[in-house]
Amino acid sequence: MPTTVEDLRRFKHERRRFVMLTAYDCLLARAFDEAGVPLILVGDTLGIFALGHETTIPVTMDDMVHHCRAVSRSVGDALVVGDLPFGSYHESLAQGIHNAVRLVKEGGVAMVKLEGPEHELIEAISSKGVPVMGHLGLTPQSFHAMGGHRVQARTEAAVAELVDAALRLEAAGACSMVIEGVPTEAARRVTEAVDVPTIGIGAGPHCDGQVLVGPEMLGLSTGRRPKFAKPYADLATAAVVAAKSFADDVDSGSYPDAEHSYDWAIKAG
Ligand code: KIV
Repeated sequence: MPTTVEDLRRFKHERRRFVMLTAYDCLLARAFDEAGVPLILVGDTLGIFALGHETTIPVTMDDMVHHCRAVSRSVGDALVVGDLPFGSYHESLAQGIHNAVRLVKEGGVAMVKLEGPEHELIEAISSKGVPVMGHLGLTPQSFHAMGGHRVQARTEAAVAELVDAALRLEAAGACSMVIEGVPTEAARRVTEAVDVPTIGIGAGPHCDGQVLVGPEMLGLSTGRRPKFAKPYADLATAAVVAAKSFADDVDSGSYPDAEHSYDWAIKAG
C-alpha cells in the first residue's frame, strides 16, 4: 500500500517507529522501495553524494527536479519527499511556493522539505495543497552561519527555542519534521511537544522515525562519516574489489569467456 501523509501521523499515534532514507537515482530508490522503506527523501545531500560538491549549498532547483523525477518514477509504495535547496525560497514566499510546486509538478514528489524556522513559508506552501516536512536543529544549508556542521541546542535556552520553533512549524501545517544534530534530550522534548512525527538524524533514539543518507547507510560513500551514520554494508569496498577483479580478468584473458560471448553463427544467404 502506498504511504500517505495520513500514515505518518498514524505511525506516531501507534508508536510505530519508521525509517526514511535518501536516494538520488532509480537504482537505490527501487532497492529501498522494495525493502519497504515508507519514505524516500531526495535530499539536497545529492550535492555531496551524487554530484561531488563539498556542501549542499551549490545544489540548484534544476538538479533537484532532475533527480526527484528519477526517484519518483522508480518507486511503488514509498512516499517521495523532495528538498528545497539553498536559495530556492530565500527571496520571497512567492519564490518558495513556485519552487515547491515545481518539485511536485515536474519532479513528481508528494511532499517537500525545507530547512529552518520558516513557519510563514510552510503555511503558504501547505495552503496550496503541498504537504511540507520541516527541518530543525543542524540545518546544513546554514553551514556558513553555523561555522560548520556543529551539534545544535546544547543549552536549556537553545532547547526551549528549538521546541518553540517545532511548535510553530506544526501550527503552520508541517506534516512532520526532521530533527538533525541535537542532543538526545533535546530531540526527546521536541518529539513529546509536537503531534506530528519527528524524524531524527544524529538526534538520538527518541524521535518517531530515523533517517540516514542512503549511500552512508550502505557504506558506499568514502571520506569522513559523522558519528551517527552507521553503515549497514560495505559497498564501497565491494565496488573496488569487483572493479579490480574485472580488470585482472581482462588482463589475464579470462574475460570475456565463452559463457559471456555470442556464438559465431553465419546465416546462409
Ligand atoms: O538533504 C538531506 O539528505 C537531508 C537529510 C540528511 C535529512 O536533509
